Amino acid sequence: MLPLLFLLGACSVASSPQDAATPAVEGARLFKAKGCTTCHTFGEGVKVGPDLQGLFSRRDEAWIRRYIADPVTMVEQDPIARELKAQYKIQMPKMMISPAEMDQLLAYLREAGSPTKP
Ligand code: HEC
Repeated sequence: MLPLLFLLGACSVASSPQDAATPAVEGARLFKAKGCTTCHTFGEGVKVGPDLQGLFSRRDEAWIRRYIADPVTMVEQDPIARELKAQYKIQMPKMMISPAEMDQLLAYLREAGSPTKP
């Protein structure tokens, strides 16, 4: 009986629900909660805005951060953003994203939009 109890104890330790969500998992939650899914897909084509599949192969990270933080100002100042706006005809709204949320969103965008995704 003793060895069995020991095993049970070991199992409950191993499966303790302590693992915190990774930044990408938190980012996936935010991507829905902030309404990004209303306008964007990954690999399912254009919705209201661009398909975000392969995002990191066409833009660099600094650009993506600046763009998501304030797409309205970017359209005024950045030639790529201006071109996107001309193409999609609708302005992506400025979303309220904290710096911590931005890191999580970026982790998710990188993972979900990776071209090597199966
Ligand atoms: C109301 C629709 C809408 C919502 C909501 C929205 N977007 Fe957009 N997004 C667009 C449109 C439209 C564009 C293309 C540029 C433009 O026309 O403003 C765009 C462009 C982008 C781009 C640049 C894509 C590229 O190919 O360079 C990124 C990155 C992006 N959005 C991320 C997000 C994220 C992250 C969220 C949620 C926090 C979000 N968007 C919410 C409509 C939206």
